[in-house]
Amino acid sequence: MSNYAVEMKQTAQAMVASGKGILAMDESNGTCNKRFEKLGIPATEERRRAYRELILTTPGLSEFISGAILYDETIRQSTQAGVSFIKVMQDAGMIPGIKVDTGAKDLAGHPHEKVTEGLDGLRDRIAEYYKMGARFAKWRAVITIGEDIPSRACIEANAHALARYAALCQEGGLVPIVEPEVLIDGNHTIERCYEVTDETLHAVFAQLYRQGVAYNQMILKPSMVISGLACPIQAPAEQVAEMTIQCLLKNVRVNVPGVAFLSGGQSHQQASEHLNIMNAKYRSHCPWQITFSYARAIQQPALETWRGNDANVAQAQQQLLHRAKCNSAASLGQYRAQMEQQLAPV
Ligand code: 13P
Repeated sequence: MSNYAVEMKQTAQAMVASGKGILAMDESNGTCNKRFEKLGIPATEERRRAYRELILTTPGLSEFISGAILYDETIRQSTQAGVSFIKVMQDAGMIPGIKVDTGAKDLAGHPHEKVTEGLDGLRDRIAEYYKMGARFAKWRAVITIGEDIPSRACIEANAHALARYAALCQEGGLVPIVEPEVLIDGNHTIERCYEVTDETLHAVFAQLYRQGVAYNQMILKPSMVISGLACPIQAPAEQVAEMTIQCLLKNVRVNVPGVAFLSGGQSHQQASEHLNIMNAKYRSHCPWQITFSYARAIQQPALETWRGNDANVAQAQQQLLHRAKCNSAASLGQYRAQMEQQLAPV
């Protein structure tokens, strides 16, 4: 058993405490810059810092957000007034987390498929992040649905890497967020998404078992079972919720404290609605908390309001807080579409 077992168990439970979810703000510089460029925001280190300061200093955020996932650049940054982001989070009662994978790269011999890298040197990086104050980590694996893919090779390589990452995290005191994302891109049906998600989660839990990962000291961050974005038949929200829960109940170990979904390209309202139905209808059938770890579905309206202009900070923070609040309500099965009209005054 890891020396950190008791602390990690508590951290994992706190990450998915009732009414709270995790904010993903760990976009790599490349991804962050792409989102900035679309809105005409300068892709500079200073603007990335200013945007992350906007997010982390949003008044009241910790009522809905248990912790935030940072990127390596961000975890080393500070507010304009010189307070480190880690301290800002600790003072607000939010747990600092860190993305530790180094990205999804082409899988050799398997066109259109990816494998996530970042295991080399990971033990040392985990030790450094723990010292800095991080208490959980994230690693994202990407599974693509297409003609004749995903291959077993892709699923197994990614599941194995996720499990080795999770074991290293637990050795070093960080709660691993295990994120196998089945991409929403493509014209596949929801049934096909179910099949692939089922096979992926099965492989991931087999590897977690094989590497001795403690299920009660980790968080699962899956994608929802959903129709491909280009599929002509879009499954209704009720079906997304039902099939997602069915797939999770089949594969996720009972002592995992929480399942925290990624949004994966769903609209922000859809992401809230799907999460809400899962909690309203199925929470009592599930042994784990069911919550969110969204990036785009929380941040996008705020980013579009901010647009790199400091004069828009308060309004952007209001947008961010609103999405956090809607998703918090969804994690309790209490989200209503009317809430979208009830933006709190700045
Ligand atoms: P989205 O919610 O934008 O899919 O991002 C979640 C995430 O952290 C992806 O790794």
